[in-house]
Amino acid sequence: MSASIAVVPALPPAIEIKGLTKTYGSGALAFQALKGIDMRVEAGEFMMLIGPSGSGKTTLLSILGCVLQPTEGTALLFGDAIHGRKESELPRLRLEYIGFIFQGHNLMNALTAEENIAVPLELRGYSHRAALVEARETLTAVGLKDKFKKRPEELSGGQRQRVAVARAVAGKPPLILADEPTASLDAESGMQVTELLKNLCSERGHTVICVTHDNRIYHLADRKTFIEDGRIVREDEAH
Ligand SMILES: Nc1ncnc2c1ncn2[C@@H]1O[C@H](COP(=O)(O)OP(=O)(O)O)[C@@H](O)[C@H]1O
Ligand SMILES: [Mg+2]
Repeated sequence: MSASIAVVPALPPAIEIKGLTKTYGSGALAFQALKGIDMRVEAGEFMMLIGPSGSGKTTLLSILGCVLQPTEGTALLFGDAIHGRKESELPRLRLEYIGFIFQGHNLMNALTAEENIAVPLELRGYSHRAALVEARETLTAVGLKDKFKKRPEELSGGQRQRVAVARAVAGKPPLILADEPTASLDAESGMQVTELLKNLCSERGHTVICVTHDNRIYHLADRKTFIEDGRIVREDEAH
């Protein structure tokens, strides 16, 4: 009997980008916001992207989030190219790969917490019932089991941002992109929401890129990448 050799394909990294640039506008008004970014993030990592205002963090996150196309360079999400795509292909890529968390919670004020999560899932093809089940499960996972029927205005800032975390992870997109998720919170709530995001994503296997310049939460990162003026200037592993 011949020995069979199992070939286990290596898991592609969550993100692999090379020579990425982004120029806004053209001619005399052209502005290069990203000036050649190389970056690799392994599946399951919790990476913080840190840099001053105007350094290109949101631009980079928007490219990774399939909202913007890069001007030059290549970007792979889980081995799948997201550069050189037509505008019309981007929504499908977003739905397949990405959960977003914004600086403000961006919840719909007219909807309850569970509806805020269930409605986008229904737009992604979930049945009404399956969407509600997933919404309640993720709200429970973020500690809001007793708030399913509350509207955003009936929740504290920290609770609203936890609903936003639940909405981002609902439907299990492999990549969570958070753009300054603690910016509108006090120190204590900011820390709690980031700890929650980290623990939840690690349990569920989501990869996270969290943009921040809130140095009170830096220690929660597996890895920190520092960006200045459209270039990556430093990377630190957690010790
Ligand atoms: N749509 C746009 N058109 C022109 N310039 C832009 C646009 N968006 C961002 N910029 C510029 O690109 C630079 C990086 O912006 P951004 O990615 O939002 O930085 P950050 O999120 O780090 O504050 C800034 O100088 C900003 O003014
Ligand atoms: Mg920004």
